Amino acid sequence: MRILQVNGLKKYFTVGLLRKYIIKALDNVSFDIDQSEIFGVLGESGCGKSTLGLVLSRIERETDGEILFKGKRVDGSTKLDPDTRREIQIIFQNPYESFDQRLTIEDSLMIPLRINKIGENDHQRKEIIRHFMHRAGLEPAQSFLVRYPHELSGGQLQRISLLRAMMLNPSFLIADECVSMLDLSVRASVINLMLDLVKTQKTTVMFITHDISLAKYVSDRIAVLYLGKIVELGTSSQVVERSLHPYTKVLVSYSPSIFEKKQKIKPKELIGIFQPEIGCNFANRCPYADIECEKQTPQLRQIEPGHYVSCLKV
Ligand SMILES: Nc1ncnc2c1ncn2[C@@H]1O[C@H](COP(=O)(O)OP(=O)(O)OP(=O)(O)O)[C@@H](O)[C@H]1O
Ligand SMILES: [Mg+2]
Repeated sequence: MRILQVNGLKKYFTVGLLRKYIIKALDNVSFDIDQSEIFGVLGESGCGKSTLGLVLSRIERETDGEILFKGKRVDGSTKLDPDTRREIQIIFQNPYESFDQRLTIEDSLMIPLRINKIGENDHQRKEIIRHFMHRAGLEPAQSFLVRYPHELSGGQLQRISLLRAMMLNPSFLIADECVSMLDLSVRASVINLMLDLVKTQKTTVMFITHDISLAKYVSDRIAVLYLGKIVELGTSSQVVERSLHPYTKVLVSYSPSIFEKKQKIKPKELIGIFQPEIGCNFANRCPYADIECEKQTPQLRQIEPGHYVSCLKV
């Protein structure tokens, strides 16, 4: 069953004096996510990953396009009914920014449970909190619950922000670079906690990252974004082991943990953000581009079952 359907999603920002410059953070993005799937969104800084997370979680409104959550349109307004609001949860890169510094951890966990009427009373809610703290290995729970956010390590606080989201039993979790601020040594444990919780609760996940090896480890399918457009989409092994788009090949060849022996494909240097009206966004950096790539806009098309690419040269 499809949990999320996205059709022709656009998010444009106008910046500068007289709003002269248009940044197409998302430019005609379409994809579906199945129930219980882990869907990776991969790309370099500035390609639109966070914008996608913010628009899908309805924190930001789209410029155009359709978003269906469980078959129901949620685009057009950032207002959601309380149950859908609970069902879509998002966690961010910096856990210190996502907690109210004036509240203890216990209050930060208790308030969303009360708002969403989870548990019949505070005693039951406390039991739920203890159960999740135990799952995350944060024990004795009380020693964490009495503290304020700044009194915890980044890894501990990120674990708690994951718990705060998962306690609400969401059906769709958006994780935006949720471990990129953490030490390598704690990344794996936070990722494994997330995988453990989403598997138990059958939660669908959109896993946003710039790290291709992490995307492959975590995701069932991966969408590669480049300057607001999906350039490749497929299962993790299709995208990482049988990459078709030159941009994905660049990402793969520069990831030492995946293919050490693979020949490096050097992209041309990125000079500013270049989103031409016609032609391929990647043409000015692509080692394979020719004049055709500047004259024709490539469309995402299926090359093998489930494997899509947007490149004129494939
Ligand atoms: N509020 C805003 N106003 C104007 N431009 C914005 C705004 N938010 C994002 N952008 C622009 O939209 C584009 C996409 O930004 P976004 O934050 O989605 O990228 P990202 O892929 O998450 O990058 P990173 O990996 O650095 O987090 C960028 O060019 C960014 O400068
Ligand atoms: Mg981001």
